[in-house]
Amino acid sequence: MKLTNFDMVIFGATGDLAMRKLLPNLYQAHAAGLLHEQGRILAVSRSQLSRDEFLARVEQEAKIHLPENISAQVWQTFLQRLDYLSVNVLQFDDFQTLQGKISAKNSDAIVIYLSTAPHYFATACKHLAQVGLNHDKVRIVLEKPLGTDLDSSRAINSAVAQFFQEKQIYRIDHYLGKESLQNLLPLRFANPLLAQVWHKDWVKSVELTVAEELGVEERGEFYDQTGALRDMVQNHMLQMLCLVAMETPKSLTADDVRDEKLRVLQALKVLPENEVAKNVVRAQYQGYTTEHRVASDSQTETFVALRAHLNTPRWQNVPFYLRTGKRLNQRYASIILNLKPQQTLFGEQSSRLVIQIQPKERIEWQIAVKQAGNHLTVTPAWGSLDLKQNTQTRRADAYELLLLEIIEGRLNLFNRADELEAAWRWVMPILNAWKNQNIPLYTYVSGSTGPIEAEQLLAQDNAKWHDLTVL
Ligand code: BG6
Repeated sequence: MKLTNFDMVIFGATGDLAMRKLLPNLYQAHAAGLLHEQGRILAVSRSQLSRDEFLARVEQEAKIHLPENISAQVWQTFLQRLDYLSVNVLQFDDFQTLQGKISAKNSDAIVIYLSTAPHYFATACKHLAQVGLNHDKVRIVLEKPLGTDLDSSRAINSAVAQFFQEKQIYRIDHYLGKESLQNLLPLRFANPLLAQVWHKDWVKSVELTVAEELGVEERGEFYDQTGALRDMVQNHMLQMLCLVAMETPKSLTADDVRDEKLRVLQALKVLPENEVAKNVVRAQYQGYTTEHRVASDSQTETFVALRAHLNTPRWQNVPFYLRTGKRLNQRYASIILNLKPQQTLFGEQSSRLVIQIQPKERIEWQIAVKQAGNHLTVTPAWGSLDLKQNTQTRRADAYELLLLEIIEGRLNLFNRADELEAAWRWVMPILNAWKNQNIPLYTYVSGSTGPIEAEQLLAQDNAKWHDLTVL
Protein backbone atom coordinates (compact mmCIF):
# COMPACT_ATOMS: atom_id res chain seq x y z
CA MET A 1 0.00 0.00 0.00
CA LYS A 2 1.39 3.38 -0.98
CA LEU A 3 1.22 5.79 1.94
CA THR A 4 0.97 9.55 1.71
CA ASN A 5 3.78 11.66 3.08
CA PHE A 6 2.07 14.10 5.41
CA ASP A 7 2.39 16.90 7.88
CA MET A 8 -0.30 16.92 10.53
CA VAL A 9 -0.58 20.18 12.42
CA ILE A 10 -2.66 19.80 15.57
CA PHE A 11 -3.94 23.06 17.00
CA GLY A 12 -4.87 22.62 20.65
CA ALA A 13 -2.21 19.92 20.99
CA THR A 14 -1.99 20.20 24.78
CA GLY A 15 -5.76 19.82 25.10
CA ASP A 16 -7.87 16.90 26.16
CA LEU A 17 -8.81 15.58 22.72
CA ALA A 18 -5.24 15.61 21.45
CA MET A 19 -3.94 13.78 24.51
CA ARG A 20 -6.81 11.37 24.92
CA LYS A 21 -7.59 10.53 21.30
CA LEU A 22 -5.48 12.09 18.54
CA LEU A 23 -1.97 11.27 19.74
CA PRO A 24 -2.77 7.76 21.06
CA ASN A 25 -4.52 6.91 17.80
CA LEU A 26 -1.72 8.32 15.69
CA TYR A 27 0.57 6.10 17.75
CA GLN A 28 -1.58 3.07 16.96
CA ALA A 29 -1.48 3.88 13.25
CA HIS A 30 2.29 4.32 13.50
CA ALA A 31 2.71 1.00 15.34
CA ALA A 32 0.60 -0.75 12.70
CA GLY A 33 2.84 0.62 9.94
CA LEU A 34 0.06 2.76 8.48
CA LEU A 35 1.89 6.09 8.51
CA HIS A 36 4.38 7.17 5.85
CA GLU A 37 7.87 6.93 7.31
CA GLN A 38 8.43 10.65 6.83
CA GLY A 39 5.01 11.67 8.12
CA ARG A 40 5.36 14.35 10.77
CA ILE A 41 3.09 15.53 13.56
CA LEU A 42 3.46 19.17 14.37
CA ALA A 43 1.86 19.86 17.72
CA VAL A 44 0.77 23.43 18.13
CA SER A 45 -0.63 25.35 21.05
CA ARG A 46 -0.39 28.68 22.79
CA SER A 47 1.80 27.35 25.59
CA GLN A 48 5.46 28.34 25.40
CA LEU A 49 6.99 24.87 25.56
CA SER A 50 10.16 23.38 24.20
CA ARG A 51 9.87 20.19 22.17
CA ASP A 52 11.23 18.22 25.13
CA GLU A 53 8.72 19.76 27.50
CA PHE A 54 5.91 18.88 25.13
CA LEU A 55 7.18 15.31 24.77
CA ALA A 56 7.24 15.03 28.56
CA ARG A 57 3.56 15.98 28.61
CA VAL A 58 2.78 13.44 25.89
CA GLU A 59 4.55 10.85 27.96
CA GLN A 60 2.34 11.70 30.95
CA GLU A 61 -0.97 12.59 29.38
CA ALA A 62 -1.25 10.66 26.12
CA LYS A 63 0.60 7.43 26.84
CA ILE A 64 -1.79 6.53 29.66
CA HIS A 65 -4.48 6.08 27.02
CA LEU A 66 -2.50 3.28 25.40
CA PRO A 67 -2.20 -0.30 26.59
CA GLU A 68 0.57 -0.76 29.17
CA ASN A 69 2.44 -3.31 27.13
CA ILE A 70 3.26 -1.19 24.09
CA SER A 71 6.82 -1.51 22.83
CA ALA A 72 9.18 1.11 24.29
CA GLN A 73 11.13 1.11 21.07
CA VAL A 74 8.08 1.70 18.86
CA TRP A 75 6.98 4.46 21.24
CA GLN A 76 10.38 6.15 20.83
CA THR A 77 10.16 6.02 17.04
CA PHE A 78 6.68 7.53 17.30
CA LEU A 79 7.99 10.41 19.40
CA GLN A 80 10.56 11.13 16.70
CA ARG A 81 7.70 12.14 14.42
CA LEU A 82 6.56 14.80 16.88
CA ASP A 83 7.61 18.40 16.82
CA TYR A 84 6.22 21.31 18.80
CA LEU A 85 5.58 24.92 17.93
CA SER A 86 4.02 27.60 20.05
CA VAL A 87 1.32 29.40 18.02
CA ASN A 88 -1.19 31.92 19.22
CA VAL A 89 -4.11 31.71 16.80
CA LEU A 90 -4.63 35.46 17.08
CA GLN A 91 -0.99 36.24 16.25
CA PHE A 92 -0.32 36.48 12.52
CA ASP A 93 3.49 36.28 12.91
CA ASP A 94 3.20 32.85 14.49
CA PHE A 95 1.59 31.58 11.29
CA GLN A 96 4.58 32.78 9.27
CA THR A 97 6.82 30.64 11.44
CA LEU A 98 4.43 27.72 10.99
CA GLN A 99 4.41 28.20 7.24
CA GLY A 100 8.23 28.23 7.21
CA LYS A 101 8.38 24.91 9.03
CA ILE A 102 5.84 23.32 6.71
CA SER A 103 7.24 24.54 3.43
CA ALA A 104 10.71 23.30 4.41
CA LYS A 105 9.42 19.74 4.29
CA ASN A 106 7.13 19.81 1.25
CA SER A 107 4.71 17.01 2.17
CA ASP A 108 2.05 15.65 -0.17
CA ALA A 109 -0.73 16.28 2.35
CA ILE A 110 -0.85 19.00 4.95
CA VAL A 111 -3.52 18.30 7.51
CA ILE A 112 -4.49 21.15 9.80
CA TYR A 113 -6.53 19.79 12.71
CA LEU A 114 -8.38 22.53 14.59
CA SER A 115 -8.94 20.96 17.96
CA THR A 116 -9.67 24.33 19.53
CA ALA A 117 -12.77 26.19 20.63
CA PRO A 118 -14.88 26.90 17.51
CA HIS A 119 -14.68 30.67 17.99
CA TYR A 120 -11.04 30.43 16.88
CA PHE A 121 -11.85 28.66 13.60
CA ALA A 122 -12.45 31.80 11.54
CA THR A 123 -9.26 33.57 12.65
CA ALA A 124 -7.18 30.43 12.29
CA CYS A 125 -8.45 29.92 8.73
CA LYS A 126 -7.84 33.55 7.82
CA HIS A 127 -4.28 33.48 9.09
CA LEU A 128 -3.58 30.14 7.41
CA ALA A 129 -4.80 31.58 4.10
CA GLN A 130 -2.78 34.76 4.56
CA VAL A 131 0.43 32.74 4.76
CA GLY A 132 -0.64 30.62 1.78
CA LEU A 133 -1.55 27.54 3.81
CA ASN A 134 -4.82 26.94 1.97
CA HIS A 135 -3.49 25.52 -1.29
CA ASP A 136 -4.71 22.25 -2.76
CA LYS A 137 -2.59 20.00 -0.58
CA VAL A 138 -3.97 21.50 2.61
CA ARG A 139 -6.89 19.86 4.43
CA ILE A 140 -8.62 21.49 7.32
CA VAL A 141 -10.20 19.38 10.04
CA LEU A 142 -12.96 20.84 12.20
CA GLU A 143 -13.77 19.23 15.52
CA LYS A 144 -17.24 19.19 17.00
CA PRO A 145 -19.13 21.17 18.28
CA LEU A 146 -19.73 22.98 15.00
CA GLY A 147 -22.08 25.61 16.28
CA THR A 148 -24.77 25.66 18.91
CA ASP A 149 -27.66 26.33 16.53
CA LEU A 150 -28.36 26.82 12.82
CA ASP A 151 -27.06 30.40 12.70
CA SER A 152 -23.80 29.75 14.50
CA SER A 153 -23.14 26.63 12.46
CA ARG A 154 -23.75 28.57 9.24
CA ALA A 155 -21.42 31.29 10.47
CA ILE A 156 -18.63 28.74 11.02
CA ASN A 157 -19.20 27.12 7.64
CA SER A 158 -19.18 30.39 5.77
CA ALA A 159 -16.13 31.72 7.64
CA VAL A 160 -14.15 28.60 6.73
CA ALA A 161 -15.52 28.58 3.16
CA GLN A 162 -14.00 32.00 2.55
CA PHE A 163 -10.57 30.40 2.59
CA PHE A 164 -11.03 26.69 1.92
CA GLN A 165 -12.98 24.77 -0.69
CA GLU A 166 -15.54 22.25 0.54
CA LYS A 167 -13.38 19.37 -0.71
CA GLN A 168 -10.62 20.52 1.68
CA ILE A 169 -12.87 20.51 4.76
CA TYR A 170 -13.14 17.47 7.04
CA ARG A 171 -15.89 17.88 9.65
CA ILE A 172 -15.49 15.24 12.32
CA ASP A 173 -18.34 13.14 13.62
CA HIS A 174 -16.40 10.34 15.25
CA TYR A 175 -19.41 8.00 15.08
CA LEU A 176 -18.85 7.78 11.32
CA GLY A 177 -15.45 6.26 12.05
CA LYS A 178 -16.90 3.41 14.11
CA GLU A 179 -16.49 0.10 12.27
CA SER A 180 -19.90 -1.09 13.39
CA LEU A 181 -21.58 1.94 11.83
CA GLN A 182 -19.48 1.84 8.68
CA ASN A 183 -20.71 -1.71 8.34
CA LEU A 184 -24.23 -0.44 7.67
CA LEU A 185 -23.46 0.36 4.04
CA PRO A 186 -22.35 -3.19 3.15
CA LEU A 187 -24.99 -4.67 5.42
CA ARG A 188 -27.69 -2.86 3.49
CA PHE A 189 -26.26 -2.65 0.02
CA ALA A 190 -24.23 -5.85 -0.32
CA ASN A 191 -26.92 -8.15 1.07
CA PRO A 192 -29.95 -8.36 -1.22
CA LEU A 193 -31.69 -10.60 1.31
CA LEU A 194 -31.76 -7.84 3.91
CA ALA A 195 -32.49 -5.16 1.34
CA GLN A 196 -35.77 -6.97 0.67
CA VAL A 197 -37.16 -6.13 4.09
CA TRP A 198 -35.61 -2.70 4.54
CA HIS A 199 -38.74 -0.61 4.02
CA LYS A 200 -42.19 0.25 5.31
CA ASP A 201 -43.92 -2.91 4.08
CA TRP A 202 -41.80 -4.94 6.46
CA VAL A 203 -40.56 -2.55 9.11
CA LYS A 204 -42.93 -1.47 11.83
CA SER A 205 -40.54 0.89 13.60
CA VAL A 206 -36.86 1.70 13.96
CA GLU A 207 -35.18 2.26 17.32
CA LEU A 208 -31.87 4.03 17.77
CA THR A 209 -30.29 4.05 21.22
CA VAL A 210 -27.04 5.52 22.45
CA ALA A 211 -26.84 4.99 26.20
CA GLU A 212 -23.89 6.07 28.29
CA GLU A 213 -22.95 5.01 31.78
CA LEU A 214 -20.75 8.02 32.35
CA GLY A 215 -22.02 11.39 33.50
CA VAL A 216 -20.49 14.73 32.51
CA GLU A 217 -17.22 14.10 34.39
CA GLU A 218 -14.85 17.07 33.91
CA ARG A 219 -16.92 18.63 31.11
CA GLY A 220 -19.68 20.13 33.26
CA GLU A 221 -19.22 23.66 31.98
CA PHE A 222 -19.36 22.69 28.31
CA TYR A 223 -22.10 20.15 28.77
CA ASP A 224 -24.32 22.40 30.82
CA GLN A 225 -24.49 24.83 27.90
CA THR A 226 -24.95 22.04 25.39
CA GLY A 227 -27.28 19.25 26.53
CA ALA A 228 -28.00 15.88 24.98
CA LEU A 229 -29.91 17.15 21.95
CA ARG A 230 -26.99 19.23 20.69
CA ASP A 231 -24.27 16.91 22.00
CA MET A 232 -25.58 13.60 20.64
CA VAL A 233 -28.79 13.87 18.61
CA GLN A 234 -27.94 16.69 16.18
CA ASN A 235 -24.81 14.88 15.04
CA HIS A 236 -24.15 11.26 16.02
CA MET A 237 -27.74 10.04 16.16
CA LEU A 238 -28.92 11.82 13.03
CA GLN A 239 -25.94 10.39 11.18
CA MET A 240 -26.91 6.92 12.40
CA LEU A 241 -30.43 7.58 11.21
CA CYS A 242 -29.11 8.65 7.79
CA LEU A 243 -27.21 5.40 7.39
CA VAL A 244 -30.28 3.36 8.28
CA ALA A 245 -32.74 5.31 6.18
CA MET A 246 -30.84 6.42 3.07
CA GLU A 247 -31.59 5.18 -0.43
CA THR A 248 -28.92 3.33 -2.42
CA PRO A 249 -26.28 5.87 -3.39
CA LYS A 250 -25.31 6.06 -7.07
CA SER A 251 -21.80 5.01 -6.12
CA LEU A 252 -19.59 4.83 -3.06
CA THR A 253 -17.90 8.16 -3.77
CA ALA A 254 -18.02 10.68 -0.94
CA ASP A 255 -20.46 13.01 -2.65
CA ASP A 256 -22.87 10.32 -3.80
CA VAL A 257 -23.07 8.91 -0.28
CA ARG A 258 -23.38 12.35 1.27
CA ASP A 259 -26.06 13.35 -1.22
CA GLU A 260 -28.20 10.45 -0.04
CA LYS A 261 -27.60 11.24 3.61
CA LEU A 262 -28.58 14.83 2.94
CA ARG A 263 -31.84 13.67 1.35
CA VAL A 264 -32.71 11.82 4.56
CA LEU A 265 -32.06 14.88 6.69
CA GLN A 266 -34.17 16.98 4.36
CA ALA A 267 -36.95 14.40 4.45
CA LEU A 268 -37.22 14.44 8.24
CA LYS A 269 -40.62 15.88 9.08
CA VAL A 270 -40.03 19.09 10.95
CA LEU A 271 -41.96 19.14 14.21
CA PRO A 272 -44.05 22.27 14.63
CA GLU A 273 -43.16 23.82 17.98
CA ASN A 274 -46.58 22.97 19.38
CA GLU A 275 -45.99 19.25 18.72
CA VAL A 276 -42.63 19.07 20.41
CA ALA A 277 -43.97 18.24 23.86
CA LYS A 278 -45.90 15.28 22.45
CA ASN A 279 -43.00 13.83 20.49
CA VAL A 280 -39.88 14.70 22.45
CA VAL A 281 -39.08 13.83 26.06
CA ARG A 282 -36.28 15.64 27.83
CA ALA A 283 -34.94 14.67 31.21
CA GLN A 284 -32.09 15.22 33.63
CA TYR A 285 -30.54 12.67 35.93
CA GLN A 286 -31.02 13.27 39.63
CA GLY A 287 -27.93 14.85 41.13
CA TYR A 288 -26.80 16.45 37.86
CA THR A 289 -26.98 19.97 39.33
CA THR A 290 -24.43 19.03 41.99
CA GLU A 291 -21.87 18.03 39.35
CA HIS A 292 -18.66 20.01 38.99
CA ARG A 293 -19.26 23.31 37.09
CA VAL A 294 -22.94 22.74 36.48
CA ALA A 295 -25.39 25.51 37.40
CA SER A 296 -27.33 24.64 40.55
CA ASP A 297 -30.62 25.53 38.81
CA SER A 298 -29.64 23.98 35.47
CA GLN A 299 -32.42 23.07 33.06
CA THR A 300 -30.06 21.20 30.73
CA GLU A 301 -31.25 17.82 29.50
CA THR A 302 -28.97 14.81 29.95
CA PHE A 303 -31.49 12.52 28.26
CA VAL A 304 -33.63 12.82 25.15
CA ALA A 305 -36.13 10.41 23.64
CA LEU A 306 -38.08 11.31 20.55
CA ARG A 307 -40.27 10.11 17.74
CA ALA A 308 -39.44 11.19 14.21
CA HIS A 309 -40.93 10.50 10.80
CA LEU A 310 -39.50 10.64 7.33
CA ASN A 311 -41.28 11.95 4.31
CA THR A 312 -40.04 9.35 1.84
CA PRO A 313 -41.91 6.54 0.07
CA ARG A 314 -39.64 3.97 1.75
CA TRP A 315 -40.42 5.10 5.28
CA GLN A 316 -43.96 6.48 5.08
CA ASN A 317 -45.62 6.13 8.51
CA VAL A 318 -42.70 4.23 10.04
CA PRO A 319 -41.77 5.85 13.36
CA PHE A 320 -38.09 6.29 14.17
CA TYR A 321 -37.58 6.30 17.92
CA LEU A 322 -34.34 7.87 19.14
CA ARG A 323 -33.04 7.96 22.70
CA THR A 324 -29.77 8.90 24.31
CA GLY A 325 -28.70 9.75 27.80
CA LYS A 326 -25.92 9.97 30.31
CA ARG A 327 -25.70 7.98 33.56
CA LEU A 328 -27.88 5.18 32.29
CA ASN A 329 -27.54 1.57 33.35
CA GLN A 330 -24.90 0.70 30.76
CA ARG A 331 -22.84 1.90 27.82
CA TYR A 332 -24.68 0.59 24.86
CA ALA A 333 -25.63 1.69 21.35
CA SER A 334 -27.82 -0.08 18.86
CA ILE A 335 -30.07 0.18 15.85
CA ILE A 336 -33.14 -2.02 15.89
CA LEU A 337 -35.53 -2.77 13.07
CA ASN A 338 -38.79 -4.07 14.52
CA LEU A 339 -40.44 -6.01 11.73
CA LYS A 340 -44.18 -6.09 11.23
CA PRO A 341 -45.80 -9.23 12.63
CA GLN A 342 -46.74 -11.60 9.81
CA GLN A 343 -49.43 -14.25 9.60
CA THR A 344 -47.78 -17.60 8.89
CA LEU A 345 -48.70 -21.25 8.88
CA PHE A 346 -47.52 -21.25 12.49
CA GLY A 347 -49.61 -18.30 13.53
CA GLU A 348 -48.56 -14.68 13.84
CA GLN A 349 -44.78 -14.27 14.04
CA SER A 350 -42.84 -11.14 14.89
CA SER A 351 -39.19 -10.63 14.30
CA ARG A 352 -36.50 -8.01 14.75
CA LEU A 353 -33.01 -7.22 13.64
CA VAL A 354 -30.69 -5.77 16.27
CA ILE A 355 -27.49 -4.12 15.15
CA GLN A 356 -25.31 -3.55 18.19
CA ILE A 357 -22.91 -0.69 17.63
CA GLN A 358 -21.07 -0.76 20.95
CA PRO A 359 -19.62 -2.05 23.17
CA LYS A 360 -20.36 -5.31 21.39
CA GLU A 361 -20.39 -5.18 17.63
CA ARG A 362 -22.98 -7.73 16.76
CA ILE A 363 -25.85 -8.34 14.41
CA GLU A 364 -28.65 -10.33 15.95
CA TRP A 365 -31.91 -11.43 14.50
CA GLN A 366 -34.93 -13.02 16.01
CA ILE A 367 -36.25 -16.02 14.13
CA ALA A 368 -38.85 -18.64 14.82
CA VAL A 369 -37.50 -22.17 15.35
CA LYS A 370 -39.08 -25.47 16.16
CA GLN A 371 -39.53 -26.20 19.80
CA ALA A 372 -37.98 -29.55 20.79
CA GLY A 373 -40.51 -32.31 21.30
CA ASN A 374 -43.22 -34.13 19.45
CA HIS A 375 -45.37 -31.15 18.59
CA LEU A 376 -44.62 -28.94 15.63
CA THR A 377 -44.71 -25.66 17.47
CA VAL A 378 -42.33 -22.75 17.10
CA THR A 379 -40.60 -20.51 19.56
CA PRO A 380 -38.55 -17.31 19.07
CA ALA A 381 -34.75 -17.73 19.07
CA TRP A 382 -31.82 -15.37 18.47
CA GLY A 383 -29.13 -15.77 15.85
CA SER A 384 -26.00 -13.74 16.37
CA LEU A 385 -23.05 -12.63 14.29
CA ASP A 386 -20.07 -11.17 16.11
CA LEU A 387 -18.41 -8.68 13.78
CA LYS A 388 -15.23 -8.64 15.86
CA GLN A 389 -14.80 -12.39 15.59
CA ASN A 390 -15.66 -12.58 11.94
CA THR A 391 -12.93 -10.29 10.74
CA GLN A 392 -9.40 -11.35 11.57
CA THR A 393 -7.81 -7.93 11.22
CA ARG A 394 -7.20 -5.52 14.09
CA ARG A 395 -10.15 -3.21 14.73
CA ALA A 396 -8.98 0.35 15.06
CA ASP A 397 -10.60 3.07 17.13
CA ALA A 398 -12.86 5.48 15.23
CA TYR A 399 -10.36 8.33 15.52
CA GLU A 400 -7.52 6.27 14.09
CA LEU A 401 -9.60 5.39 11.04
CA LEU A 402 -10.69 8.98 10.58
CA LEU A 403 -7.15 10.35 10.89
CA LEU A 404 -5.95 7.90 8.24
CA GLU A 405 -8.82 8.83 5.94
CA ILE A 406 -7.88 12.50 6.23
CA ILE A 407 -4.23 11.80 5.46
CA GLU A 408 -5.28 9.79 2.42
CA GLY A 409 -7.75 12.50 1.34
CA ARG A 410 -11.00 10.51 1.45
CA LEU A 411 -14.05 12.52 2.46
CA ASN A 412 -16.62 9.73 2.79
CA LEU A 413 -16.65 9.65 6.57
CA PHE A 414 -16.97 13.40 7.08
CA ASN A 415 -19.96 15.71 7.09
CA ARG A 416 -20.58 18.17 4.33
CA ALA A 417 -21.73 21.70 5.21
CA ASP A 418 -25.21 21.12 3.80
CA GLU A 419 -25.69 17.97 5.91
CA LEU A 420 -24.73 19.81 9.03
CA GLU A 421 -27.11 22.63 8.30
CA ALA A 422 -29.98 20.31 7.42
CA ALA A 423 -29.49 18.55 10.75
CA TRP A 424 -29.59 21.87 12.61
CA ARG A 425 -32.66 22.95 10.68
CA TRP A 426 -34.52 19.90 11.96
CA VAL A 427 -33.30 20.31 15.55
CA MET A 428 -34.12 24.03 15.82
CA PRO A 429 -37.91 23.82 16.47
CA ILE A 430 -37.19 21.45 19.37
CA LEU A 431 -34.67 23.85 20.89
CA ASN A 432 -37.05 26.75 20.31
CA ALA A 433 -40.00 24.98 21.87
CA TRP A 434 -37.93 24.14 24.94
CA LYS A 435 -36.91 27.78 25.19
CA ASN A 436 -40.30 29.35 24.48
CA GLN A 437 -42.77 26.96 26.02
CA ASN A 438 -43.27 25.52 29.39
CA ILE A 439 -42.20 22.00 28.49
CA PRO A 440 -41.35 19.76 31.44
CA LEU A 441 -37.84 18.60 32.16
CA TYR A 442 -38.35 15.16 33.70
CA THR A 443 -35.89 13.41 36.00
CA TYR A 444 -34.50 9.91 36.18
CA VAL A 445 -32.41 7.93 38.59
CA SER A 446 -28.71 7.48 37.78
CA GLY A 447 -28.04 3.95 36.62
CA SER A 448 -31.60 3.41 35.39
CA THR A 449 -32.83 2.98 31.82
CA GLY A 450 -34.11 6.56 31.77
CA PRO A 451 -37.32 8.36 32.71
CA ILE A 452 -40.69 6.67 32.71
CA GLU A 453 -41.89 9.34 30.25
CA ALA A 454 -39.67 7.80 27.57
CA GLU A 455 -41.61 4.56 28.01
CA GLN A 456 -44.87 6.46 27.82
CA LEU A 457 -43.81 8.07 24.54
CA LEU A 458 -43.68 4.65 22.91
CA ALA A 459 -46.71 3.40 24.77
CA GLN A 460 -48.74 5.98 22.81
CA ASP A 461 -47.95 3.80 19.76
CA ASN A 462 -48.42 0.52 21.65
CA ALA A 463 -44.68 0.05 21.41
CA LYS A 464 -41.89 -0.64 23.90
CA TRP A 465 -38.17 0.09 23.82
CA HIS A 466 -36.02 -2.98 23.50
CA ASP A 467 -35.04 -3.77 27.09
CA LEU A 468 -31.52 -2.51 27.83
CA THR A 469 -31.17 -4.77 30.83
CA VAL A 470 -31.42 -8.04 28.92
CA LEU A 471 -28.62 -7.41 26.44
C1 BG6 B 1 -19.11 12.99 22.14
C2 BG6 B 1 -19.94 13.70 23.16
O1 BG6 B 1 -19.29 13.56 20.87
O2 BG6 B 1 -19.49 11.62 22.11
C3 BG6 B 1 -19.80 13.06 24.53
O3 BG6 B 1 -19.55 15.07 23.22
C4 BG6 B 1 -20.11 11.60 24.45
O4 BG6 B 1 -20.63 13.70 25.48
C5 BG6 B 1 -19.30 10.93 23.34
O5 BG6 B 1 -19.78 11.02 25.70
C6 BG6 B 1 -19.74 9.51 23.15
O6 BG6 B 1 -18.85 8.86 22.29
P1 BG6 B 1 -18.63 7.29 22.37
O7 BG6 B 1 -17.74 6.98 21.21
O8 BG6 B 1 -17.99 7.00 23.69
O9 BG6 B 1 -19.99 6.67 22.27
